[in-house]
Amino acid sequence: MLLDHPDDIFAARHYEQVRRLPAEAETLPPWCYTHRDFYQRELQRLFRRSWNCVGRVERLPHPGDFVAFELAGVPTMLVRDEGGRLRAFANTCRHRGTQLLEGSGNCKPLIQCPYHGWSYRLDGKLAGAPEMAKVSAFQQGDYSLIPVRRETGLYS
Ligand code: FES
Repeated sequence: MLLDHPDDIFAARHYEQVRRLPAEAETLPPWCYTHRDFYQRELQRLFRRSWNCVGRVERLPHPGDFVAFELAGVPTMLVRDEGGRLRAFANTCRHRGTQLLEGSGNCKPLIQCPYHGWSYRLDGKLAGAPEMAKVSAFQQGDYSLIPVRRETGLYS
């Protein structure tokens, strides 16, 4: 079912009732929960600009433990490295962009791309890239996983 919405969903007049004091305010219009453009604006202006809680550190106690998820529309992974450090990366192979991990589990000793077999150490460094040794300009050190800023909160 498509919910009715005006063409100008971001016009301030639609939100005047929402911005009143709590005792007089009304809830957001229904399209705020269903309209694709509203969702995209929330991603851009809110979720991609602020910290997002993605879980508890106890969920990944051992080296190689990982969880993959979408964070504000971006495939992301958390993985515990060999030294016990929790790391976050874009969940994207540096070769052709294939998603590396799905769900959760343990990927020790390597994160292996299912497409052409590139592999990454748990600290994100490229460990192996079949066939790329033949490419003279290829520098393995240039193709580590892309880190995502991560912090651990007070209650870890
Ligand atoms: S896309 Fe990952 S190895 Fe090619």
